[in-house]
Amino acid sequence: MTTQQRVKESVEPRETMLELENVGISFGGLRAVDGLGFKIRRSEVVGLIGPNGAGKTTVFNLITSIYRPTDGAIRWRGKEITGLPPYRIAEMGIRRTFQTIRLFSDMTVLENVAAGAHRQIRQRWWQGLLNTSTQQKEERELLERAHAVLERLDLAAVANELAVSLPYGAQRRVELARTLIAEPELVILDEPAAGLNDQESEELNATIRAIRDSGIAILLVEHDMNVVMNVTDHIVVINFGKKIAEGTPAEIRTNPQVIEAYLGQPDDDDEAQAPEEKRGVAI
Ligand SMILES: Nc1ncnc2c1ncn2[C@@H]1O[C@H](COP(=O)(O)OP(=O)(O)OP(=O)(O)O)[C@@H](O)[C@H]1O
Ligand SMILES: [Mg+2]
Repeated sequence: MTTQQRVKESVEPRETMLELENVGISFGGLRAVDGLGFKIRRSEVVGLIGPNGAGKTTVFNLITSIYRPTDGAIRWRGKEITGLPPYRIAEMGIRRTFQTIRLFSDMTVLENVAAGAHRQIRQRWWQGLLNTSTQQKEERELLERAHAVLERLDLAAVANELAVSLPYGAQRRVELARTLIAEPELVILDEPAAGLNDQESEELNATIRAIRDSGIAILLVEHDMNVVMNVTDHIVVINFGKKIAEGTPAEIRTNPQVIEAYLGQPDDDDEAQAPEEKRGVAI
């Protein structure tokens, strides 16, 4: 790398992958997302946080085109993608996991992960009937890729077990593996730490960092502040569908509006917390 290139890299921010501009959606009279805008750059982990019902999952459904926004624009690498069919969004390299685990219960870990690539297989229906050499080659390549992803997420030893028989933390990793096999450029994770114990949530932090460092952008909804504060580069906070704050984890942790939004809606176990812990965002 020349000095000129090095200077350019340090001055110019990384490429913007996803951009939401003034995005909104209503369900009947309810404004679930309202005038929302933010960006996600390459190799960046953006956290989207907010109290229950704030509109976080709805934002994911807007990005993946499950819902069509009533206002605003969603752009992928500078091109408007608002309203495209969900499969087109997936083909562009945007992959997601769901708030509740969705794995095929009759499939092994390997099969569940391989299923994540089905859109990329070039095979035609008649090739399936004839079992052509193209099909055999693609199947072989798919299995090789699935094995490589399993290695990456420490799942190789359980490749042939039924996915749903694994401990919760490993099931969450299977979901992640299923997004990675599609070689995505943006991975959207809806509460990946839900149900994980402390050790599993630490391991998740390391996994998320490794995915980011491989050049993938990540958008993360998460209530577990250990994960949010330790892996995100940038945080967007929403309440009642509107952005109320945006910044680095350090800025967000001490933002009075954010603290108020969270304290306005205490957790069930809030009583058990010491008063000084209640003042921060579960720091
Ligand atoms: N399809 C829908 N039809 C009607 N209302 C909806 C629909 N989807 C979401 N909502 C409403 O929109 C609001 C935002 O919901 P959303 O699921 O996005 O919140 P969230 O931030 O993901 O909450 P949580 O932290 O509990 O997962 C809620 O009031 C919810 O009831
Ligand atoms: Mg949600």
